[in-house]
Amino acid sequence: MLRSHTCGELRSSDIDKKVTLSGWVQKSRDLGGMTFVDLRDRYGITQLVFNPDWDKTLSEQARQLSREFVIQITGTVIERESKNKNHVTGDIEIKVETLKILNESITPPFTIEDETDGGDELRMKYRYLDLRRSIVRKNLELRHRLALETRNFLDKLNFIEVETPVLIKSTPEGARDFVVPSRMHSGQFYALPQSPQTFKQLLMVSGFDRYYQIVKCFRDEDLRADRQPEFTQIDCEMSFIEQEDILNTFEGLVKHLFKSVKNIDIPKMPHMTYADAMKNYGNDKPDVRFEMKFVELNDVVKGKEFKVFNDAKLVVGICAKGAAEYTRKQLDELTEFVKRPQIGATGLVYARYNSDGTLKSSVDKFYNEEELKKWAAAFNAQPGDLMLVLAGDEDKTRKALSELRLEMGNRLGLRDKNKFSCLWVVDFPLLEWNEGDPNLLESLRGRWVAKHHPFTSPKPEDIDLLKKDPGNVRANAYDMVINGVEVGGGSIRIHNKNLQATMFEVLGFTKEEAQKQFGFLMNAFEFGAPPHGGIAFGFDRLCSLFGGADGIRDFIAFPKNNAGKDVMIDSPSEISQEQLKELGLRL
Ligand code: AMO
Repeated sequence: MLRSHTCGELRSSDIDKKVTLSGWVQKSRDLGGMTFVDLRDRYGITQLVFNPDWDKTLSEQARQLSREFVIQITGTVIERESKNKNHVTGDIEIKVETLKILNESITPPFTIEDETDGGDELRMKYRYLDLRRSIVRKNLELRHRLALETRNFLDKLNFIEVETPVLIKSTPEGARDFVVPSRMHSGQFYALPQSPQTFKQLLMVSGFDRYYQIVKCFRDEDLRADRQPEFTQIDCEMSFIEQEDILNTFEGLVKHLFKSVKNIDIPKMPHMTYADAMKNYGNDKPDVRFEMKFVELNDVVKGKEFKVFNDAKLVVGICAKGAAEYTRKQLDELTEFVKRPQIGATGLVYARYNSDGTLKSSVDKFYNEEELKKWAAAFNAQPGDLMLVLAGDEDKTRKALSELRLEMGNRLGLRDKNKFSCLWVVDFPLLEWNEGDPNLLESLRGRWVAKHHPFTSPKPEDIDLLKKDPGNVRANAYDMVINGVEVGGGSIRIHNKNLQATMFEVLGFTKEEAQKQFGFLMNAFEFGAPPHGGIAFGFDRLCSLFGGADGIRDFIAFPKNNAGKDVMIDSPSEISQEQLKELGLRL
C-alpha cells in the first residue's frame, strides 16, 4: 500500500510514529521559512511540515508543490504548536522525511473547498473534482449508508433483491419513455423502464413473495429540483398482504433508516386521506411540520358588495400566526408571489388582527370591523395574526394557497430541515381526467388516466363505479410524505385478469391494444396470481431529505443538469451517420 494511515486518522496518541501518507495537496503556505501543506484524502486533512533546518532540498521540493498534486510522504507524527480545533487531526502534524510526487495537476478550475468559487455549471463539467469536496463526498457516503441499511433491514425480513431488465417494452406509466433503437430489429425499439412495475408483479406470480431492488428508473419528463431523468428507486413488492401490512412494513424501513443513520426516533406515522389533504392543505403531499390549515370562508364572506368573493367558487385562506405586523412592502411581495404565472392567483386579500385588538383589511370598503371579527373567528385568529385569503376556481385556488402556505412556512421559519414530519396519504383517486398534462403523450389528452398506474386496485367497495363514475373511484394507493416531499408511493394491485381488462377499457384501450401492450401480464394472471402490492421509494429524494438539502442532484454521483444534460461527458450528443444507418434511423 502507498500509505500506512489515511489523512483523517492520526491523533495525539500517534505522536512519534513513523507514517506514510498519500493524498492531494489541498493548499500549501510558506511561513517563516517553513512550508506547511494540507494533505487531503477521502478521510480528512493532515498537516505536513517542511523545515529547511531539517532538510534544505526537501524544503525546496515542497515549495514546488501546487494545489491538487498527488504526493506520498513519509515522516514522523509530532505535536502541533498551534492546534486547530476545526480538524480532528488538528493536534498533530507530520515532520516530513521523504516526499514523492505521484502525479502533478494543472490548476483546478475552482477551489476544492466546502465554500467553493465554482458556479453550478463549472462544477458539473468537472464533477470528478467537485466530488473531491468533502461536502459533496459526504452526500454520497450518506447515500451508501442508506442503501446498506435498506438492504440490511429488508434482508432480515426475507426480501430478496432481484435484478430486472433495463431494455424493456414501452409501458405507459405516466411519463414518456426513453427509447433505444434495436439494430437487429430495424424499426423496433426497446424502452428504458420508468420503474420495474410489471416485472415485480410477475415475480409475485413466480412466488418470490418478498422482492426489492435498488434500481435505476428512467423518465422523459420535465425536470425540477427533485426530478432527474434517471433516478433510483427502492422498489418493493409483497404477496399475501393487505394495504395495512405494506404500510407497517415500509414505515418500519423508514423508521429504521432514521434511527440507524440519524439516531432519530420517528413516531407512528399518521394516515391522512387524499380528500383531507386536498381540503386542508390543497396538496397531496402536505408539509405538516406546521399547521396553518386552510379555512373555507364562503359562508362568512359572500353576499357583501365585493364582487371578487361573490363570483368565486371558493374563498379560502390561511392564518399566519404572529405576522400581523408585516409591512406594506412584505404584503406587496406576497401579492406578487401569488400573482406569478406558476401560482396563478388573481390577487391576495389580507386582514390584520392587530395586537391592540383592532382589525384592518385590504378590503375595508366591503367589510367593516364587525365582519372582520367573523373572519377572525373562522380562522381562530388571535391578536397579532395575519389572515391571507384567495378566491377563484376550486382547484386552482387551493393549489395557489398551498404555495402561499409553503412560502409563509419558509418566511416564518416553520420548515426546519432538522425536523421530520412523516405521514401516509391514503385513498387516492384511481383515475384523473387529463386536460393536457405536458408530461403525458398528446394522445392521452381528454381521457381518464391512471393517477398512480394502471395496475392499481380500486377499493372493492368502489368497483361498481368504475364505468358509471370513474372520477369517484378510490384506489388502494398510498404515498409516504416527509416534510412535503413525496418520498414513496405504491398500491395494492389488481390480480384478477377480468378486473385488469376492465381497467384498461376505462383507460380507453381497445381489447387489442391492451392485449398487445399488456398481454404478458394479463396472461400471467391466468396462472394463479397471488394477491399482492408494493411500493417504491425515490431513493435520491430520501437521501436529500436525510442530508437536509432541497435538490437531489448533489446526492447523485454524476447527475444531469437542469436541461437534462451531462455536461461532463457531453450527453445527449449526436451519433454518426453510420450508426444511424445501422439502426435504420437515417433521416
Ligand atoms: P412512482 O411513480 O410514484 O411509483 O415513483 C416512486 C417514487 O419515485 C420517486 N420519483 C422520482 N425521483 C426522482 N426523479 C424522478 N423523475 C422521479 N419520479 C419519481 C418519487 C416517487 O414517490 N412503480 C410505482 C411504485 C409502485 O406502485 O410500487 C412507481 O414508480 O419519490
